[in-house]
Amino acid sequence: MTNPSLLILPGDGIGPEVMAEVRRVIDWFGARRGLVFDVGEDLVGGAAYDVHGVPLSDATMARAQEVDAVLLGAVGGPKYDDLDFSVKPERGLLRLRKEMDLFANLRPAQCFDALADFSSLKREVVAGLDIMIVRELTSGIYFGEPRGIFEEGNERVGINTQRYTESEIDRVARAAFDLARKRGSKVCSMEKANVMESGVLWREVVQRVRDADYPDIELSHMYADAGAMQLCRWPKQFDVIVTDNLFGDLLSDAAAMLTGSLGMLPSASLGAPMANGRPKALYEPVHGSAPDIAGQGKANPIACILSFAMALRYSFDLGDEAARLERAVEKVLADGVRTADLLGEEGVTPVSTGQMGDAILAALDASL
Ligand code: IPM
Ligand code: MG
Repeated sequence: MTNPSLLILPGDGIGPEVMAEVRRVIDWFGARRGLVFDVGEDLVGGAAYDVHGVPLSDATMARAQEVDAVLLGAVGGPKYDDLDFSVKPERGLLRLRKEMDLFANLRPAQCFDALADFSSLKREVVAGLDIMIVRELTSGIYFGEPRGIFEEGNERVGINTQRYTESEIDRVARAAFDLARKRGSKVCSMEKANVMESGVLWREVVQRVRDADYPDIELSHMYADAGAMQLCRWPKQFDVIVTDNLFGDLLSDAAAMLTGSLGMLPSASLGAPMANGRPKALYEPVHGSAPDIAGQGKANPIACILSFAMALRYSFDLGDEAARLERAVEKVLADGVRTADLLGEEGVTPVSTGQMGDAILAALDASL
């Protein structure tokens, strides 16, 4: 038996700092739980561009295809703002998603009790919140052709194409229904069927999959703009939300803020099963590279650590160990340990990224 393998891609900005804490957590599971991973590390985003002139080298892409799971920090930064589109840091991440065919992006938004007052919404609106956004990740307007900036008469026109095939909608709908079965058995599908043909087809296919194979799931449909409004009005009405690539990008940022800080939210991007039965998988925090605080030890490592918890659950079928890690995070927050993104209470001094890591490791020790 070989150890399960991980490829770590810390990336840019706060990526390396938060990933350093994840590495300590990985080592803890090796030393204390006998869960030893073979861990490799490589470059992505601006960090890769600086060395290779591209945001993801072919060699790194090949390594990502080989491992059991990829853990990614964050990509991008002002230094790369003027680069050509084809080599921007973000393209590295998009290439990973596309070539690994990670079509189902799971973005849970959970409000930890200790943080309910951090949300810009009232405590009763967010306390106990636990929703899951399933965002389609490999198609839609992010990848549709034609795309580009073209000459048209005496001016230029910018074009992107929203495009979904029935099979692309079908498979992400199934991912959402399967997840819902392990939760509250409720799915709300969001599109703009009132103005977009791709939305009409989306609604039709999602309903068809439900009627054929998931009669036990309660399915509703909502226009994405109304969905955004409902997310702010009464988010607890939702269990699983399934939506396309672009709406999912927007709705998941909005949902993240319900929980108090973008520094808390993990994600899993899953594809088809590999030969060993594990899904192709990449785990990353929802937050970005936060260049304004990079290198200062201020970043909150929790989103990245919780992304590793998702890896334990979804790649390695270690739900109990994932829950152990999630409980350790919850305990640390309940004890009042706060990074700088989580301030606002009287008399609380923020801890550094590394001190948050220390506290989580101590809570893990206490869990034994
Ligand atoms: C996200 C990010 C990415 C996206 C960027 C960094 C390409 O915003 O994962 O939500 O737009 O998908
Ligand atoms: Mg986003």
